[in-house]
Amino acid sequence: MMARRIRVIGIGAGNPEHLTIEAVNALNTCDVFFIPVKGEEKTFLAGLREEICARFIKGKQPRLIHFDIPARRQDGAYAGAVKDWHEAIAAIYERLLSEETGADETAGLLVWGDPMLYDSTIRIIEHVRARGHVAFEYDVIPGISSLQVLCARHRIPLNRIGEPVQITTGRRLAEGWPQGVNDAAIMLDGIQAYETVADPDAEIFWGAYLGTSMETVLSGRLGDIAPDISRVRAAARAEHGWIMDTYLIRRKAGPEDGEAQP
Ligand SMILES: C[S@@+](CC[C@H](N)C(=O)[O-])C[C@H]1O[C@@H](n2cnc3c(N)ncnc32)[C@H](O)[C@@H]1O
Repeated sequence: MMARRIRVIGIGAGNPEHLTIEAVNALNTCDVFFIPVKGEEKTFLAGLREEICARFIKGKQPRLIHFDIPARRQDGAYAGAVKDWHEAIAAIYERLLSEETGADETAGLLVWGDPMLYDSTIRIIEHVRARGHVAFEYDVIPGISSLQVLCARHRIPLNRIGEPVQITTGRRLAEGWPQGVNDAAIMLDGIQAYETVADPDAEIFWGAYLGTSMETVLSGRLGDIAPDISRVRAAARAEHGWIMDTYLIRRKAGPEDGEAQP
């Protein structure tokens, strides 16, 4: 039986050499790729996706279909705006599947980092499926996430022995330190939320453009290094027009943490 198929392929967070062999093999099974474009950051990311296709796909070249990612509404409640945004992207995927993908073809979605971490591709594909207008199968190939690259560059494990780590956003961190953890990994921080952490003795491990030629990393005592990170961050953002950064903050375990201190 003929069936459309989508392959959701994690491509790593900036270095094409971080693609797994499974990902390369999956790339070579795709007839068409849907590549999002828009804005300076998206232009860089689209370029990297194209470079990956050119470098790793052997034989018959797939079709690359570019599409504009709609802008997310900035007014009103965050959850409602995200839901509307996902619905708009789902409608685009549905159209790309029905109009640009043959009934027996495989379409590839090249997902930044790993598809399970702060990425909604899987949620949106499930949404397309639930709409029921176009039938397809899909699978997910893992990729190297920016958090893995961050830890590798700083030569640190993500967690301390037996300790939990909370992975959260800059917006959440700015609302207060997460309950029940001394370690927090922060993504999607457009507001330099580390500046709001009132614990100068905490350690921070920061990285921007990880895996790319623009990669920059800094680490140290939060109270000492935070102003440097903010300065380097602002300069890099001004130079490149966009920035993607992530960081881990480790607080010293308090007396209430008993033996938690490693
Ligand atoms: C929408 S999330 C996608 C995360 C991705 N799925 C992953 O596994 O890394 C985007 C956020 O990931 C982080 N990020 C992704 N790539 C990065 C990179 N190359 N360097 C630093 N941070 C990165 C940033 O915090 C950015 O705001």
